[in-house]
Parts: sequence; structure tokens; C-alpha cells
Amino acid sequence: MAGIPFDQRDGEIWFDGKFIPWADAKVHVLTHGLHYASAVFEGERAYNGRIFKSAEHTERLHASAEVLGFEIPYSSEVINAAKEELLKRMNLVDAYLRPIAWRGSEMMGVSAQHNTIHLAIAAWEWPSYFKPEERLKGIRLDMAKYRRPDPATAPFKSKAAGLYMICTLSKHEAERKGYADALMLDWRGQVAEATGANVFFVKDGKIHTPKPDCFLNGITRRTVIDLAKARGFEVIERVIMPEELDGFEQCFLTGTAAEVTPVSEIGPYSFTVGEITKTLMLDYDALVRADPAGLKAAE
Ligand SMILES: Cc1ncc(COP(=O)(O)O)c(C=O)c1O
Repeated sequence: MAGIPFDQRDGEIWFDGKFIPWADAKVHVLTHGLHYASAVFEGERAYNGRIFKSAEHTERLHASAEVLGFEIPYSSEVINAAKEELLKRMNLVDAYLRPIAWRGSEMMGVSAQHNTIHLAIAAWEWPSYFKPEERLKGIRLDMAKYRRPDPATAPFKSKAAGLYMICTLSKHEAERKGYADALMLDWRGQVAEATGANVFFVKDGKIHTPKPDCFLNGITRRTVIDLAKARGFEVIERVIMPEELDGFEQCFLTGTAAEVTPVSEIGPYSFTVGEITKTLMLDYDALVRADPAGLKAAE
């Protein structure tokens, strides 16, 4: 389906409680979510027909909405069942899922106290976030001009649409220069994350990653930390300054879309796709594709 615009595809979308034809899943131009970014979303992947950490993503969706001051009018049970049913109806086995909740059209101004809250869920096939041939060699990152904001200026714990404005700007700038993505510093000048994924570094057999105190503490980030610890690797969550990039041997990104993606360059700094990165790529792949029934039987 690559190349077909997202509003012109076939299939169905779960929209405010019902499955409707994909082409009919529209919102009015006077929608608060569009004008004021009062929208929160999730990015999830299904492997072999099973959504990885589906319940956790739904919990985060509810939590993101709460941070923006609204309540999604569907329970986690309803949302989780809708995601499962959508995959079946779309005949998808390996897929990306995009639930999104937004404030509707009753009020059109900064204040939107009485707006209806909507929820839609779409799913499509999406094999790899970065080009597969680049992914294995390690992707190249630019240094972004924009920084992750101070928590006093943005609700960073919400996976909110508005927080992606600087991500799209940074990713576009990186792509213009021939990079795959960009590394963002935070408001203090510390290493933060990429435009849609968390970042890790390796030095002397130890794994280092910034503390998520002003950016999303990704579900994949937490999963990969657990996988690394299970392998006996030390994981150090700490302040990382950009000057330190010179001393790291390996670097990789984590995210639902990015999975575990090695990084070969950040601006002037180079990294190798080393053993720890490769091990965690394989461990993550094995975990997301693990059959829970099989795991239980093996216990
Ligand atoms: C800005 C940003 N950081 C980190 C992540 C990683 O989060 P997760 O692993 O939960 O997908 C994402 C992806 O959703 C993201 O968009």
C-alpha cells in the first residue's frame, strides 16, 4: 500500500465505537484537536497477530488524555477489544496501530470545556520505520536545532500531538541533509531522544541512557532495559552531555515504530553496530514475536 495517501486506503477504521469504511473516517475542519492540538495518540505494533503490550498502550492513552484535561469515553476493555477486532477485520498479522483521541467541535477557541471527546483506531501494514538496508548498518542522525522543552512549559508525560511539532521540524531538516533522523537535546542541553524514539549508548560493556525527566519514557525503552538487565548488562540512567558522544562505542534507538535500531553516526560522531546492540535487537525481536501460550507452557 506504500504511496497511497492515508485518507484513500481500503478497509475499516474504528470510529467513536463503530467500525466504519476507511474513507468515511473524517472530522470537520472546525475541530478543536486540529486547531489547538488537543489530541493524544498511541503507536502500537502487532506481531504474528498479537499486539505487543496492548493493555499498556491503552493505559498510556488514557493517561495522556488525563494530562491534557479530558477523559476518553471508552474503557480500556472496549479499546483493547476494538484493536483486536480491527486487526481481524483488516486481515492484518504484522501491523501498526494508531489510536487517536481528540476534542471535537462544540467550542472553537482556546477554551473547549464542553467539547465531545472522540476516539478512532486505524491499523495498517508497516514493516520498518527506517529503510531496512540502512537499519542494519546503523542509521545516521543529525543534531536537532530544537530542544525537548522544560516540563514547566509542556506536558511531556502525555503522548500529545502538539509535542510533535518540533519533532517533525527536526526530522524534516535532518532528511533534507541526508540523515535518517535527528537527536534532540533537552532544554538544559542534555542528550534527550530522537524525534520518535528513545536513545541508548554503550561504553565498556555498560549501557547508558538519559533519564526520561522531560521526554516520553517509552514502552520499548522500558522493555529493552529489562531485556538488557536479564542479560546481566548494567544499565545506567543518567545525565548525558553531548560532549560525551565522542566516547561511546555503540548507539541505538528504541521505540514501537523504530524497534531497536542501531545508530552509526550522530553529526561528527561514529558508532559501530556492536554485540550488545545486536543482542538487544534479537532479544527484542524474539520477545515481541513470542507466543505467550508457548511461554506459559514452557514454565
Ligand atoms: C518522541 C518519542 N519518544 C519516544 C518514543 C518511544 O515510545 P514507545 O517505545 O512507547 O513507542 C516515541 C514513540 O512513540 C516517541 O514518539
